[in-house]
Amino acid sequence: MKSKINSLAEYFKEYEKSINDPEKFWEGIANEFIWRKKWDKVLEYEFNTPKISWFKNSKLNITENIFERQLDNISNKTAIIWEPNNPEEDVIKISYKELYKKTCQFSNAMESNGVKKGDRVVIYMPMVPEAAIAMLSCARIGAIHSIVFAGFSSNALADRINDCNAKMVLTSDGNFRGTKNIPVKSVVDDALDNCKSVSKVIVLKRTGEKINMINGRDLWWHEVIENQSSEHEAASLDSEDMLFILYTSGSTGKPKGVVHTNAGYMVYTYYSFLNVFQYNKEDIYWCTADIGWITGHSYIVYGPLLAGATTLMFEGVPTFPDAGRFWEIVDKHKVNQFYTAPTAIRALQAYGLEYVKPYSLDSLSVIGSVGEPINEEAWHWYHDNIGKGKCPLVDTWWQTETGGIMISPLAGITPNKPAHASLPLPGIQPVLVDSEGKELEGNNVEGNLCIKFPWPSILRTTYGDHKRCKETYFSTYSNMYFTGDGAKRDHDGYIRILGRVDDVINVSGHRMGTAEVENAINENSKVIESAVVGFPHEIKGQGIYAFAICQKNDNDTVKTLEEEIKLTVRSIIGPIATPETVQIVSGLPKTRSGKIMRRILRKVASKDVSDLGDISTLLNPKVVEDIIKGAGL
Ligand code: PRX
Repeated sequence: MKSKINSLAEYFKEYEKSINDPEKFWEGIANEFIWRKKWDKVLEYEFNTPKISWFKNSKLNITENIFERQLDNISNKTAIIWEPNNPEEDVIKISYKELYKKTCQFSNAMESNGVKKGDRVVIYMPMVPEAAIAMLSCARIGAIHSIVFAGFSSNALADRINDCNAKMVLTSDGNFRGTKNIPVKSVVDDALDNCKSVSKVIVLKRTGEKINMINGRDLWWHEVIENQSSEHEAASLDSEDMLFILYTSGSTGKPKGVVHTNAGYMVYTYYSFLNVFQYNKEDIYWCTADIGWITGHSYIVYGPLLAGATTLMFEGVPTFPDAGRFWEIVDKHKVNQFYTAPTAIRALQAYGLEYVKPYSLDSLSVIGSVGEPINEEAWHWYHDNIGKGKCPLVDTWWQTETGGIMISPLAGITPNKPAHASLPLPGIQPVLVDSEGKELEGNNVEGNLCIKFPWPSILRTTYGDHKRCKETYFSTYSNMYFTGDGAKRDHDGYIRILGRVDDVINVSGHRMGTAEVENAINENSKVIESAVVGFPHEIKGQGIYAFAICQKNDNDTVKTLEEEIKLTVRSIIGPIATPETVQIVSGLPKTRSGKIMRRILRKVASKDVSDLGDISTLLNPKVVEDIIKGAGL
């Protein structure tokens, strides 16, 4: 754990080194890994195309760095602790040696079924150890995994499978979530009706649900691994070969496939994990994210395993059997570092302290937050009642596109300031800019958050559409990566993230594009036009509010139309995108050039119409009155 920073003074020193000579800095960390061939050049980049290479022309395998590099020392150490949905069911502990064998075995099984280096494999699975094994096996072969969160609908799954032309899908019969037994395989079956590229589906038996297996296409996981060797030579991959694609929503059109590559992602997730959480050799670390999001990729699987950590994976939900489940798990496994999302904190806070009180939480030494701004009230509740006032709280700001944590306290090192992501990690050069892209220097400034220099785990492209990558992230401001977030640097130089400045809504830490939800709503044949905005939501951070102009049939009531629209969204995207409120309207406020005035809709959705600004220039000012009335304000 050579790269671990131990004091604030050391952090400042390392930060300075990383800025003065980034190549030397990152080379020092990269030297902790094993490489089949070392790089010709640490960094080559230009942000215009964009074209970014880290550790150029080197050869490696990330799983060789998880297993072969560490096995001599931690062979019998627990790599994954798996806590099932039902607390009555047995916990599974998998050692590094066992995980290595299972990974090799499944790599062989995938290869026997036609998967080769460069092929795309979509993973649509619950939170079970096999999901991590699936990722690692892809990485071992050099196949590119693309995990789709198992809450997305068959339409959304099909879109992603088609976008990356996946050859194989890995899934399960079902998914236990609380009291529910959610079908998974049937969603895959529906999706595959519209996907021609997939030739094989491997199905893990988890719930024992009766499912339909298609001859020649569908195979059981336990059967494909039978008789497979538990040795598999890791493929020698180029530093810039793709490791994975992860789809995420933006302000326009369909979700895009964010691409991460092997070497840079490996170096950065390892380094950030070690330093932000201050992981110690014997610690038990738990991140509650789902493996279908970037947090699960970087901080359940790759970062912790590269650091030789014991990482806990939880199958269930925070409220089953009751709202004390997280805390019960912390005590049961003596968790040291606990990393979750503000939406979970707020939800558990609402259940009350009686669900926390039965647990000691003594093992905790670090608590963390990710996914959305954490409001001060939730920050204090978390800090005081879960961290017992003694655990540093790391409010970690980052994105699917950044691959790893960018701005965050280092636990116990950077002084905590509620609701502030605080300071950048070494190697990260954030800047605040005004609308013209002029850098705002000094403290006490507020602007759009950009990063002006590459870091090893920056996205390289958006799959199949490099132009979109350039337009979304590198064209708003020249020579900088634009995050889409607004931020403030306070009088101490600490950064506070203010939230998205584009048309992205952050619902319970999940990104939804307004255009994406509108497109889904418009699939309902009764909808003529729609507009979607976000509004502050006590638990979810933001909720989705949809306005829709509809053509009513005689049997429709406003209520049935609203419900129908919600159902349409659920089936096109999935339950996470369901609007909290649907308001049927006669028109939408538009400028004379026909642009929807979302500002007004946001005010209505937030139930604050005291100051709507000048609406006289609207094409149809009368409609505003109707909308306000319709909203019951
Ligand atoms: O708006 C920021 C918010 O989540 C967005 C990234 O979402 P996603 O790619 O899904 O990744 C989430 C997990 C890394 C950001 O643009 N966000 C993330 N972390 C924070 C945050 N906002 C405020 N504070 C955070 N700690």
